[in-house]
Amino acid sequence: MKLALSIILITCLLINYSNCLNNGSSKCFKLGEACKHSVSIDVSCGEHLACLPLDENNESSKYVCKPRLKLGEKCNNEVSDVCERGLNCLPSVWDDINSNYTCIEAGFAGEGEDCDSNYTCIGTGYLNLKCVDSKCKIQEFEGNDNITCEGFYNCPGPFTCASVDCENREDNCLTKCVPLKQLGSYCDQSSECLYGGICSIENTCISRYSKKLDENCLYNSECDFGLRCETTIYHYFPNGTFDYLDEINKCVPLVYSNTTNCMEEGCLSQIEFCNGATNTCYPKKKYTNDCKEAEKERDLCYASNNCFFSSDYSDFIFSDSSFSNEHSCQMKHCKQQTINYFKQCQNSYTFCD
Ligand SMILES: *[C@@H]1O[C@H](CO)[C@@H](O)[C@H](O)[C@H]1NC(C)=O
Ligand SMILES: *[C@@H]1O[C@H](CO)[C@@H](O)[C@H](O)[C@H]1NC(C)=O
Ligand SMILES: *[C@@H]1O[C@H](CO)[C@@H](O)[C@H](O)[C@H]1NC(C)=O
Ligand SMILES: *[C@@H]1O[C@H](CO)[C@@H](O)[C@H](O)[C@H]1NC(C)=O
Ligand SMILES: *[C@@H]1O[C@H](CO)[C@@H](O)[C@H](O)[C@H]1NC(C)=O
Ligand SMILES: *[C@@H]1O[C@H](CO)[C@@H](O)[C@H](O)[C@H]1NC(C)=O
Ligand SMILES: *[C@@H]1O[C@H](CO)[C@@H](O)[C@H](O)[C@H]1NC(C)=O
Repeated sequence: MKLALSIILITCLLINYSNCLNNGSSKCFKLGEACKHSVSIDVSCGEHLACLPLDENNESSKYVCKPRLKLGEKCNNEVSDVCERGLNCLPSVWDDINSNYTCIEAGFAGEGEDCDSNYTCIGTGYLNLKCVDSKCKIQEFEGNDNITCEGFYNCPGPFTCASVDCENREDNCLTKCVPLKQLGSYCDQSSECLYGGICSIENTCISRYSKKLDENCLYNSECDFGLRCETTIYHYFPNGTFDYLDEINKCVPLVYSNTTNCMEEGCLSQIEFCNGATNTCYPKKKYTNDCKEAEKERDLCYASNNCFFSSDYSDFIFSDSSFSNEHSCQMKHCKQQTINYFKQCQNSYTFCD
């Protein structure tokens, strides 16, 4: 019996390790296959599929991998990506959560860009950018000439919004659009740095991934591939409590979770995703030179086409959908670079192919 098991294991290792996970089937659920539905699972069915109820009108029916939902189709789960890329699952009437949820083109147009609904503007109408006379415009501060912007989305191209002249005003800074800062400049946050930059722990705009092992850091993306930024260390007591923490702020080797039950235990939040088909964690990002190159090309393209963007969104942590909508500046001018970035850098994009 033991021998038989060993032979199976060795055969697995020799032939194809990944086929031995998930009981001999492939590493992702396929079209039509039953999948596990959970908000915390990012990848189960692959890029063009979503885990949806077999009977679309009955959320208690079993979930299977189906093609992602198209523009205008009814959707139920606004949390995971059930709509095609570039679309979001939102109430069909803006600001009316009682209206039916549908797949909507949303959240990609900045100040001055065309819109037909508040959804179109960056922030989907919930930032101070509203759709007025078919253009996205800053709203709330109308009548206060001192406030001309609130975020990068209120400023053209490679500019960002900054508070200026605060010393000379009582409690009323002036805000205005200022050019993004070159590498080496002083900064308080990454959104001030040129695309591809990050505001380091030393308050300087530096290239992403430029710190080596044991160098000081505040964010994962300061550290080179293969490393992550350890910021705090918790001291755990035998009784299960922890009450003391150390700041270390250093680039340390990236160690992946090796849980075999990530559906319950989860994965490293910013770095990994849980694959429901194998119940194990995988890195979100492809740590390769091709990825670094693709990211640089994308950033250059966005900057040279004056597309709204922010270094805060470099990894698209908030919403891929916004920047992959066909009508976004990013896709109109840099479609090839944007898609290539997904292919080269996002493991989930090609994971199930
Ligand atoms: C694994 O495969 C066996 C037979 O091939 C099957 O009986 C069993 O249900 C499968 N288990 C899972 C979790 O899919
Ligand atoms: C929904 O699906 C569940 C599980 O398959 C079933 O028990 C229930 O009767 C269905 N409800 C309706 C309204 O079809
Ligand atoms: C939502 O959709 C259902 C059927 O799919 C329909 O009966 C209902 O009127 C819709 N509700 C609204 C507010 O449009
Ligand atoms: C967007 O929302 C504002 C109110 O916050 C409203 O005045 C405006 O008409 C809305 N725009 C569109 C196109 O519905
Ligand atoms: C704009 O700033 C000036 C100078 O500080 C101040 O006098 C004025 O009240 C401010 N305007 C508004 C609308 O707050
Ligand atoms: C746990 O142990 C630590 C250190 O011994 C102690 O300070 C703390 O009070 C303990 N907590 C509880 C809930 O027992
Ligand atoms: C991986 O598993 C081993 C035991 O199998 C454990 O000691 C180790 O801490 C685990 N690593 C992580 C990062 O969880």
